[in-house]
Amino acid sequence: MMKLVIDTDPGIDDAIAILLATASPKLDLIALTTVGGNVGIDVVTPNALALLELAGAKDVPVYRGADRSLGRERPRASAAHGDDGLGGFRPVFPASRTAETESAVDFLLRITREQPGEITVLAIGPLTNIAEAVRRDPGFPGRVARLVLMGGAEGTGNITPSAEFNFWHDPEAASEVFAAGFDTPVMVGLDATRHAFMTPGVRELVRQIGTPTARFIHGSTRQYTDHYWNRYHEVGSELCDVLAVAQLIDPALVPTVAAHVEIETAGICEGRSVVARTARYTDRTANALVATDAVDTRGFFELLLGTLFPEHR
Ligand code: BDR
Ligand code: CA
Repeated sequence: MMKLVIDTDPGIDDAIAILLATASPKLDLIALTTVGGNVGIDVVTPNALALLELAGAKDVPVYRGADRSLGRERPRASAAHGDDGLGGFRPVFPASRTAETESAVDFLLRITREQPGEITVLAIGPLTNIAEAVRRDPGFPGRVARLVLMGGAEGTGNITPSAEFNFWHDPEAASEVFAAGFDTPVMVGLDATRHAFMTPGVRELVRQIGTPTARFIHGSTRQYTDHYWNRYHEVGSELCDVLAVAQLIDPALVPTVAAHVEIETAGICEGRSVVARTARYTDRTANALVATDAVDTRGFFELLLGTLFPEHR
């Protein structure tokens, strides 16, 4: 089993990603670290605890991380995720425990020292904690087995024409992470996640399943779905962070290409991921694997629903 730490800002798609990770027999979720992004750290941290409770994973510890981006102020994404980060659905499962006293970055540095080469890190929020860990200990990337991140886009963005939300929220952090020397990080960006689109039909299927997890997914995605209509005129919603978990469980569902990735930190393109596929830009060495649009959408939803609701296969 792959030992996994998820760095997250739950967040509705983060929530479903966490539920998938805890349910997957291929993943051993050893901790969540939280980061301010979709909403603030004082909201996402109890959300993380509450989600673990819903998932029956009360033993998985939660480490509180950074609230603010490195060097800039950013608005939250409450229009998409609600003021409570979970589309108004958190109160149905109050958490009964608190986060650890050790900080997210202290934990990331410690666990990778204790178990070098053993820990996969999945970052599905702004990259503030990960960059902070690199700043404090440049040896950190060398001890992480694998880094998978949801963020960026080779094509257009979702928060500006150029930028995707997680990278835009903390461009310096994203830039530093790509330059840090992680062993070929996997970037699951919008080119891929556009194909993890939950249609009203899938959402209705989830409603009919009716378990507590299904009720949570159905309820929490109502506001998220409204947001996709209001902002993009699309009927449904994108399960961005969930696709990044699927990439870990079954990489064949989310094909990648080697590319050189740099993040713009200034001007109207700030937060943009500039993706240079090595075949076209031979003067640059690949520093990442970038998920393409060739996602197996049907396979993704079969994995998601089959893992969360095995009795309904
Ligand atoms: C990313 O931004 C957040 O709103 C989502 O949780 C996801 O991590 C998509 O751009
Ligand atoms: Ca997220």
